[in-house]
Amino acid sequence: MAQKLPVFCIAAVASNRGIGKDRRLPWKLDGDLRMFSRLTKETRTPEKQNAVVMGRETWLSIPSRHRPLRDRVNVVLSRSLEEPPDGVRLYHGFQEAIDSLQSDECRDKIETIWVVGGSSVYEAALCICDRIYLTHIEKEFDCDTFFPVFDTQLFQPASVDPRVPKDIKAENDVSYRFCVYERQQ
Ligand SMILES: NC(=O)c1ccc[n+]([C@@H]2O[C@H](COP(=O)([O-])OP(=O)(O)OC[C@H]3O[C@@H](n4cnc5c(N)ncnc54)[C@H](OP(=O)(O)O)[C@@H]3O)[C@@H](O)[C@H]2O)c1
Repeated sequence: MAQKLPVFCIAAVASNRGIGKDRRLPWKLDGDLRMFSRLTKETRTPEKQNAVVMGRETWLSIPSRHRPLRDRVNVVLSRSLEEPPDGVRLYHGFQEAIDSLQSDECRDKIETIWVVGGSSVYEAALCICDRIYLTHIEKEFDCDTFFPVFDTQLFQPASVDPRVPKDIKAENDVSYRFCVYERQQ
């Protein structure tokens, strides 16, 4: 059987596990956005792209001038939308989206499936994903959306991606660090 595409979650998470407030990111961390952009865009095979899978609210949280996210296959989940936004693949369920992206037809064009939020989409992805890329923001923020609690025995920190620096970053008086958690088989 053909190899499955890797599925990775990626999120920036405050120390109270918050990820968003009023459909926005509660912080401004350009270094984190650059890392998000690099990781989700870069492919080893130049003719392939990565997919970014997101809920409808996360899609709407992206400034309109940046949507769809460039050089990536944009996948939006919604039970209410009937027509896909321009340049987007729309699915009505998480597993349906993953099955479609893992199909023979898509596997030739896609390298990695990045799950980019929000809460319930991460929750569904944690059952199947191979890695979690977290930016740990070392400060509490007032949030209305949170990253799910995950099993830290099942997902353990690992130095598996040389693109991810280990040092502590600081911007706008906020410290943060990148961490990759790998599923233990
Ligand atoms: N810090 C970070 O890294 C990060 C990352 C992403 C987002 N965010 C923040 O998180 C917030 C948005 O996240 P959210 O959790 O509120 O919303 P969300 O998950 O982005 O979107 C929720 C909507 O997506 C659809 N959906 C979700 N799961 C689905 C499924 N399994 N099948 C079909 N449709 C599904 C539903 O749309 P319908 O109602 O149309 O059915 C649902 O109402 C924003 O504040 C954003 O800035 C932060």
